[in-house]
Amino acid sequence: LSSCATGTDDLQPLLTNFLKDVLPFSAFLTDSFERRHNYLRISLTEKCNLRCQYCMPQEGVTLTPRSHLLTAEELLMLARLFVREGVNKIRLTGGEPLIRPDVLHIIAELRKLEGLKTIAVTTNGMNLTRLLPSLKKAGVDLLNISLDTLVPAKFELITRRKGFHKVMEGIEKAIEMGYNPVKVNCVVMRGLNEDEVIDFVSLTERKPLDVRFIEYMPFDGNRWNFKMMVSYQEMLDCLKQKWPNLEPVPGEETDTAKGFRVPGFRGQLGFITSMSEHFCGSCNRLRITADGNLKVCLFGNSEVSLRDFLRSGATEEELLHIIGAAVGRKKKQHAGMFNISQMKNRPMILIGG
Ligand SMILES: C[S@@+](CC[C@H](N)C(=O)[O-])C[C@H]1O[C@@H](n2cnc3c(N)ncnc32)[C@H](O)[C@@H]1O
Ligand code: SF4
Repeated sequence: LSSCATGTDDLQPLLTNFLKDVLPFSAFLTDSFERRHNYLRISLTEKCNLRCQYCMPQEGVTLTPRSHLLTAEELLMLARLFVREGVNKIRLTGGEPLIRPDVLHIIAELRKLEGLKTIAVTTNGMNLTRLLPSLKKAGVDLLNISLDTLVPAKFELITRRKGFHKVMEGIEKAIEMGYNPVKVNCVVMRGLNEDEVIDFVSLTERKPLDVRFIEYMPFDGNRWNFKMMVSYQEMLDCLKQKWPNLEPVPGEETDTAKGFRVPGFRGQLGFITSMSEHFCGSCNRLRITADGNLKVCLFGNSEVSLRDFLRSGATEEELLHIIGAAVGRKKKQHAGMFNISQMKNRPMILIGG
């Protein structure tokens, strides 16, 4: 190792790969394609203070009765089990996770789990300015803030609510509090905001932002159509016209984003290409919905209710076997965007992205 690496930064990926090959990983969290699932996304709520067109159906969603949602104790029990088996990163999402009243308690309890390296939160940023000091104190390591436009009136069109300035303030505050990078999730849709990709990248000149352009994905009720999806290649071509020296940033094997940066800029950008170039082969993610279903694939409709097993008194060992069987059934890759758009799934707001 020492002959081909110069510093600890160079050694880290080599060491990680070496350990991955020699250390055993939970059989329950390993699927039939040898993918090791060490990243869990938990949806804290089905509710939201925005109504984004691409996420929430126009007519709204029928909310699950409160008694059918996971309590904080149930959620923490499951998190503990997954972390014990090798999950080292948990992302809290939703709906809007920061409107759940006990979110700080949940984060503080997760922080106590030995083996959990990273706690991340994906938020629409509406309540961020107020909550950031407590979130940091409770132990949030990573923040992804969703923002699809830099034009206030367009924000209202896309999210069907006002709030642009609050989100911008939240982003500034996150930078001020030392989150670096602050990730900004931007779903790109033709006719709505594809003309803003250059403006978003310009923001990375002075700010330590990692702007991630997400290809528009089909979910129930979001009226997805192929023509509205702007592919990664199209966005990249557009950015290269403005910045011909745009360069790729090497990432980890399990990264969902293809990273790039403009030389000299403080921040960077990335593309989440779930539709045009899926990354199923290196998928390490599992999801638990707010009503306690385990979803092994964002685009698959097979689910198993961990809540029901928990409430019927299943032991940890029994739960692990149920989880293991679901992970074992995980398909090699998703069905392709056209098939997905025809399939029954949940609206995104009821999954947790
Ligand atoms: C469902 S939201 C939940 C967390 C939080 N409310 C937020 O908006 O960040 C998680 C992420 O999914 C993304 N998302 C929702 N629907 C999508 C779609 N149809 N295609 C691509 N990304 C989508 C959102 O932009 C957001 O970044
Ligand atoms: S993307 Fe996030 S903010 Fe927008 S409606 Fe969905 S859950 Fe709410």
